[in-house]
Amino acid sequence: MQHLTIVDHPLVQHKLSIMRQKDVSTAGFRRLLREISLLLAYEITRELELTSTRIETPLCEMDAPMLEGKKLALISILRAGNGLLDGILELIPGARVGFVGLYRDPETLKPVEYYCKVPRELDARMTIVVDPMLATGNSSVAAINMLKERGAKNLRFLCLLAAPEGVARMREAHADVPIFTAALDERLDDHGYIVPGLGDAGDRMFGTK
Ligand code: URA
Repeated sequence: MQHLTIVDHPLVQHKLSIMRQKDVSTAGFRRLLREISLLLAYEITRELELTSTRIETPLCEMDAPMLEGKKLALISILRAGNGLLDGILELIPGARVGFVGLYRDPETLKPVEYYCKVPRELDARMTIVVDPMLATGNSSVAAINMLKERGAKNLRFLCLLAAPEGVARMREAHADVPIFTAALDERLDDHGYIVPGLGDAGDRMFGTK
């Protein structure tokens, strides 16, 4: 599988363009994020394995395809990851859910773990890490390190926007983790924001600031 997949479906691109606009309301931003997350989740789960199960329709018996193996694990990087998580859970309600919390040490500027609660048996689950903005890549790399330490092997990373710097950092640290995004933007600014981007995803989805 390729390392970076840009989901260029017209609905995704249209909704993303609306979200980028600075005067979209918090409610509008949240609704669009939920809608896009369903479309992104559809794409990222394309390779899930199927097995055949005998079922009975009102007319006859048949061998029908059903998902194989353990339930997926969805891991949200706090706090903005939760905006993507909600939509994905509508599509995959049986998924197991975990949370990773990281803050940036003001002196070293390195991500420090403050919370980690993840589903059991990660080694047997497709594990999808969600965070809307892949900017420097520092927190994504740190979160994936934590998940690998806890056994995760079959990982994917899902974001709404990615910066080239973040993609490069992920490729360097975790070449085995495919990234799915709605767009690859131009660059990071001096404050680590994605340009042209959409601003602070957490603030926009939660109405803070
Ligand atoms: N986090 C955000 O919310 N926005 C960016 O542009 C970069 C990181």
